[in-house]
Amino acid sequence: MVIAVDGPAASGKGTLARRLSAHYGLPYLDTGLLYRMVARAMLDGGHDIRDAGAAEDIVSRFDGSAFTEEALRGREIGEAASVVAAMPAVRSGLIERQRRFAAQPGGAVLDGRDIGTVICPLSQAKLFVTATPEVRAARRQKELAGRGEPAPFDGILADIRRRDARDSGRSDAPLRAAEDAVILDTSALTIDEALAAAIAIVERRRAAGPEQPFTER
Ligand code: C5P
Repeated sequence: MVIAVDGPAASGKGTLARRLSAHYGLPYLDTGLLYRMVARAMLDGGHDIRDAGAAEDIVSRFDGSAFTEEALRGREIGEAASVVAAMPAVRSGLIERQRRFAAQPGGAVLDGRDIGTVICPLSQAKLFVTATPEVRAARRQKELAGRGEPAPFDGILADIRRRDARDSGRSDAPLRAAEDAVILDTSALTIDEALAAAIAIVERRRAAGPEQPFTER
């Protein structure tokens, strides 16, 4: 079974996807990290983040093992990742790696922006996790403070709104819920409540019938 978890920044999708992967014993891929790695390599290489040629070159030689997760999690990298993620050559260069991960025997959990729409359109269990921008900003503020990167609420909210606009407005694989995704608004839910709701959604989908065989497109 492939569980596709999409949603905007700081919606709680990462936490939920990780918990779903533990619950079902499935491997987990945070696909946002791939875009963050490209952004990190761009910045480390001294490239302008808008330089699509340099980004394409980096993706063609992509080696994700070069980075620690710590180097990828900051506020600046999230923003830069959403710039490179709007480049068609970056997106197409990362598709195969994600589909290979999803095609493992037994399945997988993937989270991102386009898992249910582009990467695994045939997956049986698709969740679109969302929350109000204010709730997401408050969560992100807490996470950043925990990482020793405190930032004012208004600045974080502005970041989130800008990232939403960029992710939803790009022409290639924009952020949107797949038609057959179930929308899960976590604004008023604890993590445990959100997990219970997500498991209920996955179980309903599983009960609906066998998954279509995963085919690469
Ligand atoms: O999920 P995360 O915030 O780590 O993602 C960073 C950026 O990478 C997002 O703002 C988005 O632009 C991009 N992304 C994407 N498609 C995905 C995952 C992430 O475009 N599947």
